[in-house]
Amino acid sequence: MYDLILYNIGQLILPVFKDRPLKGKEMKELPLKANAAMGIIEGKVAWLGSSAEAESFKASVRIDIKGKVVSPGLVDPHTHLVFAGSREHELSLKQAGIPYLEILAQGGGILSTVSATKNASEEELLEKASFHLERMISFGVTTLEAKSGYGLDADTELKQLRVIQLLKENYPVSIVPTFLGAHAVPPEWKGKEALFLEEMSALFDEIRENRLADFVDIFCETGVFTIEQSREYLQIAKDKGFGLKVHADEIDPLGGAELAVSLGAASADHLVAASNEGIKRLAKNSTVAVLLPGTTFYLGKDQFARARKMIDEGAAVALATDFNPGSCVTENLQMIMSLAALKLKMSAEEIWNSVTINAAHAIGKAKEAGTLDIGRSADFVIWDVPNYQYIPYHFGVNHAQSVFHAGKNLWE
Ligand code: NIG
Ligand code: FE
Repeated sequence: MYDLILYNIGQLILPVFKDRPLKGKEMKELPLKANAAMGIIEGKVAWLGSSAEAESFKASVRIDIKGKVVSPGLVDPHTHLVFAGSREHELSLKQAGIPYLEILAQGGGILSTVSATKNASEEELLEKASFHLERMISFGVTTLEAKSGYGLDADTELKQLRVIQLLKENYPVSIVPTFLGAHAVPPEWKGKEALFLEEMSALFDEIRENRLADFVDIFCETGVFTIEQSREYLQIAKDKGFGLKVHADEIDPLGGAELAVSLGAASADHLVAASNEGIKRLAKNSTVAVLLPGTTFYLGKDQFARARKMIDEGAAVALATDFNPGSCVTENLQMIMSLAALKLKMSAEEIWNSVTINAAHAIGKAKEAGTLDIGRSADFVIWDVPNYQYIPYHFGVNHAQSVFHAGKNLWE
């Protein structure tokens, strides 16, 4: 007796799970089951087979998918979910041609969100983050990463991490918290970056003991933190048992990709300016290149991350929204799938692997999320589309018909 049977699934998308992310050509493989059915017991996938076989099975609830598409729940492996305020006033600065790092250097950008976040209560942050999280879920996301990084002082960073903890308790989705205390240099620490990083790394023990973050991340960029500062900081985090992530080579080619690989980071994110050498090292290793084409689009740049070169040389690629109030203001991972097709020239198969199994690898969740198999959590999306290629093709709208986590419909 099944709790739930889905039948008449036109295409059931089943990304391949390995003990490392899919790399290079492997990303082109996207196993599909036609005329498929799936049985669920106690929130887990209990059976996968054909629609014909499912006819004789007993189930409390049966859903006719009517030939449409079912995929694993999407995984968004890079979001700045918790912050206060908004920065719509920066749009006109961007239109006037003032670069992102210049707005930051003038005390705006990330630093303006930092002021708002310092002044917000935990309840206010929770209410706002809940609003954005519900929207992410509505677009098909059932597993995501969420960073701190708009505090840059002990109290506010911990406040943000506690909010992520509350989101985890309040919502039936999987959330992986990342400590990004090294997101920018606060004005009072300008010129004392190394000391500021010491201040942030002094929080590692408390964060670890209270399980407030799985990963530590840093913004390694011109005018923010150097390669050497980043290396030292991340090494301390690694020694304390954290997984690592790097905001790497977003604007200038500093060697962030090389740094991430040399430290065994789970992911190097952005990589728009990654060097040939950086790409070569990614290809030789399993650090996931998390690409954020929504950010390049939103910052109005012409040059996107070189996804084709990365995949053709053998790297593992994932995609994320980078949802944040400054450089990518969207919760819509489906929109990112379209940008990946149009701007990164990724194939539909590569794109699906990038928002499922490889995204799960980028946040240490590949054993639980990113594909569907017997015994795995029944996290899936029913898509109101005729085939899997349709989603990157028809952009800017929501194709998710319903979103399930652990066998439970999150829209009911
Ligand atoms: O990933 N690049 C640094 N951090 C964010 C932007 C945060 C913001 O502008 O508020 C990013 O794009
Ligand atoms: Fe980011």
